[in-house]
Amino acid sequence: MHLIHDIPRLRERIAKWRRNERRIGLVPTMGNLHDGHLSLVEQAMRLADRVVVSLFVNPLQFAPSEDFDRYPRTLEHDRGALEAIGAHCLFAPDERQVYPNGRDQQTRVEVPGLSDLLCGASRPGFFQGVATVVTKLFNMVQPDLAVFGEKDFQQLLVIRRLVADLDMPIEIVSVPIVREPDGLAMSSRNAYLTPMERETAPALNRVLQRVAAALRGGDKIADAEWDAARELAAVGFRPDYISVRRAEDLAPAGPADRELVILAAAFLGKARLIDNLRLSLGAA
Ligand code: PAJ
Repeated sequence: MHLIHDIPRLRERIAKWRRNERRIGLVPTMGNLHDGHLSLVEQAMRLADRVVVSLFVNPLQFAPSEDFDRYPRTLEHDRGALEAIGAHCLFAPDERQVYPNGRDQQTRVEVPGLSDLLCGASRPGFFQGVATVVTKLFNMVQPDLAVFGEKDFQQLLVIRRLVADLDMPIEIVSVPIVREPDGLAMSSRNAYLTPMERETAPALNRVLQRVAAALRGGDKIADAEWDAARELAAVGFRPDYISVRRAEDLAPAGPADRELVILAAAFLGKARLIDNLRLSLGAA
């Protein structure tokens, strides 16, 4: 596997592959790789001839009060994990490579509307940071396809919109959420949980399942959301939102909508956990 830290060498490597007409896949990450990330890489390897995994803890998507400084950085572990599954290139630039003119002078990419809801409402600037860095990574690698996880469902929709709106010739592929055996969605931020919080954490997924069951049983959306927030608070979460949305565009779901996604974000101690569940209600 090629470990590359700078953009000129990355471009050289990719140009060589391109000359041999290789199909190139990109998996953007912030590192500290777990099985969720690796399932994205494996999917990319099924669909592309050469796979680049990027690893960059992007300061633009962290608010000053957030965990940028303590976000886990585990390059050696990540390198080993990627080598073991046969990824072709790990691209790990430092901040000067990505933002040579400084964070404040960086041209930004904004996906309006979608970026302002849910996680965007509680983390202003977050999706602008994501859209900006992903656009840059797309321009550095110029992949044929890029793979993202459904764990970050809103992020996935933001990226799809970005690619469509800016006419980028990149196929966006999504991969289902990979979970721990007890249902907790894998996440680098799970490392922030104390052992007791870790025991509580799977309740987030259980609550989503209960909302799905309630909606299938004909309950009103607002009632199901209300009950879910109460249940989360009762076991020790500080719910940020739990909301039933249209899967297509994250607009608030109404009684006639059939393709839904139930999304939740909640604090447990220092960790902000997110999860979601797709729900297809069939014909009305
Ligand atoms: P990061 O949180 O490292 O996630 C990288 C990719 O892995 C994202 O597409 C995310 O949805 C996916 N992922 C994380 N946990 C997953 C799980 N349990 N199951 C399936 N997929 C999972 O998301 C980011 O980084 C950043 O915002 C990034 C896109 C790299 C831009 O900086």
